[in-house]
Amino acid sequence: MAVLDIARMGAQVLRAPAQPVADPTAPEIAQLVADMKETMDAAGGIGIAAPQVRVGLRVAIFEVPEGRTEDGQGWPLTVLINPEWHPLGPEQEEGWEGCLSVPGMTGLVPRFTRIAYSGVGLDGNAIEREAEGYHARVVQHELDHLAGILYPQRMTDMTTLAFTEELRRDAADVPAEALEAE
Ligand code: NI
Repeated sequence: MAVLDIARMGAQVLRAPAQPVADPTAPEIAQLVADMKETMDAAGGIGIAAPQVRVGLRVAIFEVPEGRTEDGQGWPLTVLINPEWHPLGPEQEEGWEGCLSVPGMTGLVPRFTRIAYSGVGLDGNAIEREAEGYHARVVQHELDHLAGILYPQRMTDMTTLAFTEELRRDAADVPAEALEAE
């Protein structure tokens, strides 16, 4: 395993649509996922997509912390290969997001409240889930990476784009989501 270099906003690999994985069960994909997990943990993130480690493949992982889902249980590590998603209904809500590729910053981003998503795991088995709230937000953020989109491009009120250190200087109660990166 290895901690990989994280591409930051401006890198071409973050702007381009990622390519489908031909064989999700290939050893090199397992190696890539292991390195992504180690890189995410080293950076203190809760999710990461392959383009963020400069690999233009449709692979993303995330881990929703305890206390952040409706049932409080969080989500264990999920590996999504060749994922797709769609909204379940028109409702959107704003929430704070941070990104490992836009370090030190946060902003309010509108996302669909309820979604369905699917993909393939490292074992080649299909994953199909519905998600809402923070879980749905994390999936939309990660899958946007595979489409070459970073969260600032989804923002509708750029006045909320901020350095987290400055928010913390001014307010003790900065939302936890604003301090998490994915
Ligand atoms: Ni991100």
